[in-house]
Amino acid sequence: GAPAKADISKLEPGQQMIVEWRGKPVWVVKRGQEALKNLEALDPSRLADPLSSVPQQPDYIPKNAYRAIRDDISVLVGICTHLGCSPTYRPEVAPADLGADWVGGYYCPCHGSRFDLSGRVLKGSPAPTNLVIPPYTFEDDDILVVG
Ligand code: FES
Repeated sequence: GAPAKADISKLEPGQQMIVEWRGKPVWVVKRGQEALKNLEALDPSRLADPLSSVPQQPDYIPKNAYRAIRDDISVLVGICTHLGCSPTYRPEVAPADLGADWVGGYYCPCHGSRFDLSGRVLKGSPAPTNLVIPPYTFEDDDILVVG
């Protein structure tokens, strides 16, 4: 299939855009300084696979807390690794329904799986693995190429 291109120049910190690639939704999120700090501060013991040892991403994507070529831009396939529902982007910190220890991420409404802002699955979720990162590159500062 053809690669999908997205202009990310207008993406504001905290904003999510959805790009379709091979019939799948790909989430592109711009992470601001606070989101990056929260990700770094997240206790790895809360995560099932903090260093992404189960291969769910291309080899050239760092297996650190950011799982991204550019720390400020996250690219993830928006399909829950449990049974394929579409998780909801929940960037806010400590919302009433997700609890005081929620620092932003994705919540799957089907069976309650929780993922951080890098798509790493939190322990206790029915989802077995982190979210998938598709192959991608940047054509320049403004153009993301998925595929
Ligand atoms: Fe997402 Fe089951 S499909 S938690």
